[in-house]
Amino acid sequence: MAASRFLLLLCYLLVFLHGFAGASHILEELNTMEPTYVNQQHRTTYHFQPPKNWMNGPMYYNGVYHLFYQYNPYGAVWGNIVWAHSVSTDLVNWQPLEPAIYPTAPFDIKGCWSGSATILPNHTPVILYTGIDTQGRQVQNLALPKNLSDPLLRQWVKPAQYNPIIVPNGLNASSFRDPTSAWLGKDGHWRVLVGNKRGKRGMALLYRSRDFVWWVKAKHPLHSSKDTGMWECPDFFPVLKKGQLGLDTSVNGLHVKHVLKVSLDDLKHDYYTVGTYLPYKDRYVPDNSSVDDGTSLRYDYGKFYASKTFFDGAKHRRILWGWMNESDSVNNDVAKGWSGVQAIPRTLWLDKSGKQLVQWPIVEIESLRGKKVDIIDKVLGSGSVVEVLGVTTAQADVEVTFELHSLDQADILDSMSLTQPQLVCSKLGCSNTKQGGGFGPFGLFVLASKDQEERTAVFFRIFKKAGNQHVVLMCSDHSRSSLKEDVDKTAYGGFVDVDLAHGPKPTLSLRTLIDHSVVESFGEGGKTCISSRIYPVKALGENAHLYAFNYAPAPITISKLSAWDMSTAKIN
Ligand SMILES: *[C@@H]1O[C@H](CO)[C@@H](O)[C@H](O)[C@H]1NC(C)=O
Ligand SMILES: *[C@@H]1O[C@H](CO)[C@@H](O)[C@H](O)[C@H]1NC(C)=O
Ligand SMILES: *[C@@H]1O[C@H](CO)[C@@H](O)[C@H](O)[C@H]1NC(C)=O
Ligand SMILES: *[C@@H]1O[C@H](CO)[C@@H](O)[C@H](O)[C@H]1NC(C)=O
Repeated sequence: MAASRFLLLLCYLLVFLHGFAGASHILEELNTMEPTYVNQQHRTTYHFQPPKNWMNGPMYYNGVYHLFYQYNPYGAVWGNIVWAHSVSTDLVNWQPLEPAIYPTAPFDIKGCWSGSATILPNHTPVILYTGIDTQGRQVQNLALPKNLSDPLLRQWVKPAQYNPIIVPNGLNASSFRDPTSAWLGKDGHWRVLVGNKRGKRGMALLYRSRDFVWWVKAKHPLHSSKDTGMWECPDFFPVLKKGQLGLDTSVNGLHVKHVLKVSLDDLKHDYYTVGTYLPYKDRYVPDNSSVDDGTSLRYDYGKFYASKTFFDGAKHRRILWGWMNESDSVNNDVAKGWSGVQAIPRTLWLDKSGKQLVQWPIVEIESLRGKKVDIIDKVLGSGSVVEVLGVTTAQADVEVTFELHSLDQADILDSMSLTQPQLVCSKLGCSNTKQGGGFGPFGLFVLASKDQEERTAVFFRIFKKAGNQHVVLMCSDHSRSSLKEDVDKTAYGGFVDVDLAHGPKPTLSLRTLIDHSVVESFGEGGKTCISSRIYPVKALGENAHLYAFNYAPAPITISKLSAWDMSTAKIN
């Protein structure tokens, strides 16, 4: 396996193909080109990557975390997607195994695409996945571990007497994929969702089964939304109304809300709503945001797609895992020899407001923290930039809390801009004190060269809106992230829902995980997340610097900044 050459991913591969005309041609070319390994300094050291290219459904079973991901063995035509398999006991260090599911039968001979695992009450794990059958149709199949006594569940079987378990009768067979983890209703019926579209209406089709083998389509989808296009990788799960503990996918009741996430193929982002699941109608009703208005919530306002959650029964938490593609050109990806990484797994729960989720890197990642430096109670005058010295900042974890003294200069953000955070970030960039730029920007320069010719800025700007309420904008600006030209330098942005009027001194916090070509940032304890892929030319390795800056028109204080060196994890 180590010697074979890999391509992109499953759900991801699919998306990639949809995004480019003549994609199969590109993929064939990718298959036959040798990587030149020009610059492996952009390769990540604690984010999950396969040896080469790229990534599917996570699962926890009997003390072992399983990550199944998608790849295409060397020489194979593109449809030949398999489920590669790595295992871990801590979600940080990973051991590769042989592929778990690969094309062998008429129901998946042209590819084994995305799917999900469900643990049955008798403690048997089952995988449902999309197979591409002999006719090129997307059908849903079932796979079971061959030997439940094998602690690593290395081998999986796909019983021919059952498969395919769901076929696209009367549906578009090219838009019918990515089954979710199933949940069990009080009526003893299992339910599973499959992504679909009818015309431009995106939907999550619902199927029910008593025995997990014989599935019947419900009359109506669990949910649908017009003009959203294909819903890929749907994910549907309960969250506690109060508290941070995660719940098994089948839990329901007055103490929970439900979350529906869809990966919109047309927009290439993961959107979610918080709402109520009505089991007697098998309908999901979003609270008030909806996937088809441009202001919907996203897990991440940067690069983050085809994510999945799973319930970790050992630590009673729900963990979210997403995939980040490259910002590089396809040629550069080929030269690097790999493409795509997994974001750091995030624990996720419902915010106290009940309006949104909160995400935070799994606690295990802190086991990689090494040398630490602190900055305490440091005033940053207007226009100042302070270097954080003493840690290797190409591979680091940084947490900072800014204390704000006066927000008088936070000007009004017009109502139009209130629906377009990314556009505001892009228009204002991170230069200082522009008219109409709000109070800010202030934040971090990461992966910066000594002369700051290269730098990625992660920062806040504070505005006001009608009614004198504050509006906090979080941005990631990449206009100077790399001297390279053939890199996507789109700015990312999202609003942070925080009440700055509360408490004696308003504060805003930021945590950023830096890993060579990955920057993952968590604003205000994980209320707003932004992930980026960047490829500095100068700010590499020992030449990468980290700064805190304040370009706001008045001083602010770093009440505390801690930065840690991160060790290299053992990954594949
Ligand atoms: C099942 O796995 C166990 C543990 O690895 C092993 O001892 C046993 O021989 C396996 N059984 C078969 C039929 O492969
Ligand atoms: C079926 O889905 C495919 C893939 O998105 C699309 O190209 C095609 O137009 C769809 N067919 C119909 C009849 O909607
Ligand atoms: C959502 O609903 C609540 C209560 O029904 C209402 O107060 C709030 O304004 C709504 N929010 C939006 C964005 O429509
Ligand atoms: C991957 O990245 C490119 C460029 O940065 C972007 O245009 C594309 O939509 C991305 N694809 C996905 C699935 O995120």
